[in-house]
Amino acid sequence: MTSTQQLDGARAVVTGAAGGIGAAIARAFLDCGAKVLVADLPGAAGFDSYTADVGRGAARPIEADVTDDDAPDRIVEAAADVFGGIDILVNNAGVALPGTIEETTDALWRRVMSVNVDAMFRLTRAAVPYLKRSGRGRIINLGSIMSDMGGPGLFAYGASKHAVAGMTKSLAVDLGRYGVTANYLQPGAVVTALSAPFFEDADFRRYWEEKAPVGRLGAPEDCAAAALFLASAEAQFISGVGFNVDGGAIVKF
Ligand SMILES: NC(=O)c1ccc[n+]([C@@H]2O[C@H](COP(=O)([O-])OP(=O)(O)OC[C@H]3O[C@@H](n4cnc5c(N)ncnc54)[C@H](O)[C@@H]3O)[C@@H](O)[C@H]2O)c1
Repeated sequence: MTSTQQLDGARAVVTGAAGGIGAAIARAFLDCGAKVLVADLPGAAGFDSYTADVGRGAARPIEADVTDDDAPDRIVEAAADVFGGIDILVNNAGVALPGTIEETTDALWRRVMSVNVDAMFRLTRAAVPYLKRSGRGRIINLGSIMSDMGGPGLFAYGASKHAVAGMTKSLAVDLGRYGVTANYLQPGAVVTALSAPFFEDADFRRYWEEKAPVGRLGAPEDCAAAALFLASAEAQFISGVGFNVDGGAIVKF
């Protein structure tokens, strides 16, 4: 990706960066001159895509389940050791486990909250001292159009993405005085491994293609373009915002 929004020398952490939206964000950052610590589950296949970036010292993979107790410290300490600090934190790792409230077991609820909310809180808390020191700190969290709306059969997921919105607004309020902005992306229907099972239903797929005024499903690169802007110097006065990346789907009834 080429952009006028250069990130030369910026030091970023992107979770869930082995695939999908996280990988597209990490790639966009790398292409714009950032250094990126790419975190994902142990053994994630997508780490291979960073081999050349690792070779030139721009990327460093770290195998970490973000829900592990020691993950936040391991991730921020790795970024500090390898890059000398953190300027941009992208909390992207997430899971969408389906279920209405009656289908939502305690275990399903805890898993969704643990990845989508608890891990975001704990990693951000660990990164904040570095982001404050940066002078250009950026927090970009992955919400969803379900940070504003309910969605059928995604009870725990919807609750978790509303929590992302609340958490990000509070971060924006508390951290602005340190030059740190906090925003959240609100992807609509974006084709990735996470959403693939839902799009196997042809009616569901057509619904979202037609609901988006631009007439298509989203790609991970659509989200990366938004993240790149929010990470840029140009976006320094934008904070506490939920940024829809949905082809206009949500504003059309
Ligand atoms: N795809 C969509 O349509 C869509 C829509 C709205 C929001 N989102 C959000 O965007 C984010 C990325 O979603 P995606 O569609 O790219 O999903 P994806 O499944 O393609 O990628 C998610 C990545 O996160 C990693 N991951 C999952 N759990 C992890 C854990 N515990 N520790 C470390 N890494 C973990 C996975 O291994 C994977 O590489 C999520 O937060 C998701 O909720 C996606």
